[in-house]
Amino acid sequence: MKNRFLLFFCLFLFRLHDTPAQIKEPGIAIVGAFRDEVELLISKIEDKQVYNIRGISFFTGKLGGKSVVLVKSGVGKVNAAMTMTLLLEKFNPQQVIFSGVAGGLNPGLAPADIVIAEKTALYDFGKLSNDTFTYWSTSHPETRVENPLFFPADSVLLKYAKIAATKVALKGIETNLKPKIIGGIVVTGDMFVASSAKKHILVKDLKADATEMEGAAIAQVCYEMKIACLIIRSLSDSADENAHLDFNKFKAIAAENSANLIIETLRLL
Ligand code: ADE
Repeated sequence: MKNRFLLFFCLFLFRLHDTPAQIKEPGIAIVGAFRDEVELLISKIEDKQVYNIRGISFFTGKLGGKSVVLVKSGVGKVNAAMTMTLLLEKFNPQQVIFSGVAGGLNPGLAPADIVIAEKTALYDFGKLSNDTFTYWSTSHPETRVENPLFFPADSVLLKYAKIAATKVALKGIETNLKPKIIGGIVVTGDMFVASSAKKHILVKDLKADATEMEGAAIAQVCYEMKIACLIIRSLSDSADENAHLDFNKFKAIAAENSANLIIETLRLL
């Protein structure tokens, strides 16, 4: 009996340690996939606290005058979904904004430009038979109710991001080039796209403006959990045969542009 009490007491203490204080004040969650996408945002958080949950660092504090919890999800859909689920469970945010870089698909866009995702879709979930790919909708694991193929952005977050877009100062890849910001379609798959042929398919099938590796996975988790979500991406490359070179050249500037648009959005919210 005494031992059992001790065990429960220890478990209780562990939970207290594991449960961040911020949970009482649901903040806005900010997510990026890799270091370049989060480091500027982390450096600007005031009253910063770090919580380590299952080996993942969650930063809380104030950004753009708002309470935030920020996490680096890691690259790819599984990492994104895993980190999102932990984040929602432990920190209880009501809004999620993703900040990061993407490969451009829209021929009118160039590195450093931004796509604010009005909707996002997974492009690699479906059936492949005889070279014909059929896109499938995801569905709830228990009820099997189908999700939409395109996850719509939260209308409030989208509205404020678009207002922020008219105010934010961005860096161009050349000093005289002012980056464009558009509302558009972002598609997600577990693939770094460096292929004009794949670009063509994503534009033809899904009318996509940009491609990346986490957005729709995060949007799917948020959709299922009824949490407002917005994906913002600045282009690091054009997803073509030069994508790798361009990515290394422009990822820092793109990550900074996306981060600055998010800070401006937070100020307005
Ligand atoms: N993120 C940045 N560039 C990308 C690309 N070309 N494909 C997938 N994800 C990206």
